[in-house]
Amino acid sequence: MPASRSADDDVFELRLARSAPDLFPMLDALYGARPDYPAFREKLVKALRKGWADRPADLKRLDLQRDLSPDWFQRPDMAGYVFYIDRFNGSLHGVLDKLDYLQDLGITYVHLMPCLKPRPGDSDGGYSVMDYRQINPDFGTMADFEAVSAALRARGMSLCVDLVLNHTAKEHAWAKKAAKGDPTYQGYYLMFDTPDMPTLHEQTLVEVFPDNAPGNFTHYPEIGKWVWTTFNEHQWDLNWANPAVFLEIVEVMLFLANKGVDVLRLDAVAFMWKRLGTRCQSEPEVHMILQALRACSRIASAAVIHLEEAIVAPAEMLPYLGRGKHDGKEGNLAYHNSLMVQFWSSLATRDTRLMTHVLSTHFPDRLTNATYATYIRCHDDIGWAVTDEDAAAVGVSGHGHRGFLSDFYEGTFPGTFAKGALFQVNPLTGDKRISGSFASLAGLETARDAGEVDLAVQRILMGHALIAAWGGIPLIYMGDELALTNDYGYLDDPHHAHDSRWVHRPRMDWAAAEGRDTAETPSARVFRGVRHILARRRATGALHAANPVRVVGSGNDAVLAVQRVAPTGVLLGLFNFTEQWQHLPEGWVRALGVSRMWDELSEAEVGLHGGQVVLPPYARVWLT
Ligand code: GLC
Ligand code: GLC
Repeated sequence: MPASRSADDDVFELRLARSAPDLFPMLDALYGARPDYPAFREKLVKALRKGWADRPADLKRLDLQRDLSPDWFQRPDMAGYVFYIDRFNGSLHGVLDKLDYLQDLGITYVHLMPCLKPRPGDSDGGYSVMDYRQINPDFGTMADFEAVSAALRARGMSLCVDLVLNHTAKEHAWAKKAAKGDPTYQGYYLMFDTPDMPTLHEQTLVEVFPDNAPGNFTHYPEIGKWVWTTFNEHQWDLNWANPAVFLEIVEVMLFLANKGVDVLRLDAVAFMWKRLGTRCQSEPEVHMILQALRACSRIASAAVIHLEEAIVAPAEMLPYLGRGKHDGKEGNLAYHNSLMVQFWSSLATRDTRLMTHVLSTHFPDRLTNATYATYIRCHDDIGWAVTDEDAAAVGVSGHGHRGFLSDFYEGTFPGTFAKGALFQVNPLTGDKRISGSFASLAGLETARDAGEVDLAVQRILMGHALIAAWGGIPLIYMGDELALTNDYGYLDDPHHAHDSRWVHRPRMDWAAAEGRDTAETPSARVFRGVRHILARRRATGALHAANPVRVVGSGNDAVLAVQRVAPTGVLLGLFNFTEQWQHLPEGWVRALGVSRMWDELSEAEVGLHGGQVVLPPYARVWLT
């Protein structure tokens, strides 16, 4: 055996030994009582070994590189861009043509939204997957995908793809065999012979899509089964209590990792474990599974990190970032849903008290081996995740405030600047979620004159500057760098008309992008603003995600104050959420550790007047 081969084996054995304590106790707890458990463990280790053996040499080199600099995803040069391939530029080939554009913007992380082969027809934007090992033929082939992954790597950009763990399409080969009565594959799903268990479960379950996919089960008379379908009828929930499912998904993960994926976005993870009498969300076993999956990646594809999609309340979300029992061992990234919701809440009320309260009381100032994916908009709707307790802490009614936010962003509240669309109105709970693009929700669509356009542009840039200053990877959703407004064309598409989330999933406006360097349009102004924000972020070491993030009361309800505590000194982010000028005492700013009164963002001294720091409408400054 050649010497290099055995050194390679050594690396695997060392990584296995390193992560074994993170992996096996989880599996013991989840599956240890089953008679087939020893065989499963053996198969799993074999699969990991094979994943490593199949891993291309350049990716093994990347594994080593990232082992040596494990903070690679926490650095301030990280900035993400998220898009549907077809809506961006048609196909994977089209993506290659636009890498210069992304690089110009300052992007170092690209999330290709669902790109694996979906079911035909309505596929929930590709989240209903029928084959995890094939690329959606509308976008290209696996070879095209590998070409994109190699091109990104050559430019120092990371690649993120979705891995849907909670369900497969009912057209997936496993589901088809299950439907034909194969007991092995029926064990992959949650199927019931009678409606009794489904009825019991429904008593405590919530509905994700109450409008168009009510209930959590679907009855198929032709199969004679009730099938667990949390999301849509065509999305069959997987049975994670079956270790065969765990093994299958690990094999898929390693397959994708070896195609050059850097970030696996694990979709809808909260729903993976079911327990009678609960909402079946964020059960303890979910975290055991996720820690075990994380360990598998660290063993056989160490360069890969996990982004966990759990759009849940703060206390429920933090464990996905490995807080508590799973400290440092679970997700490397999770969406900062609260920051997003609070941005919109403060923008509507022109008051940062609720935001300051929520962000300062529920979030630790640092995380282990993890950071946030920060965002202002994504492809999904906004749910007004403000608890009654948090609202009460600042003297407002939770119910009233959530209703206000829906009306404000739908565009029906008197005096609002926003224009959005309702999503999944639930008369039972009073819940009204909102769809809408960043620009339309920030007032660009309804702006009647140059002054209102300017305010909308400033709101948008303030949002971009906020997520760039937080600890984490700012994720820019396609079109938001060009302030694209709502696209109502989805109403004419029979596969989309029922789902208002398509209003903020426009097609890329390449004509607007063309003018980005010179035009004075809102699109071009926002593009240049975002490019500048990302460039300043890269140059500002204090924004490294490992540096604590502390939200402090500014004494001025209009202004959010975010302190980043770096070894080199403090950076104080100030964000004015109003269309009025605001002031903060210079002494207060200095007491927080700011000595130079220098704004890293505009690269200028901050305005001072009579001992006050002066902040124009929607100002954003990064003071050092
Ligand atoms: C995730 C996706 C969402 C999809 C759901 C079901 O939450 O972000 O778009 O509808 O999963 O797969
Ligand atoms: C809910 C789910 C999330 C999903 C979204 C789709 O928020 O928690 O996983 O993406 O609905 O709109």
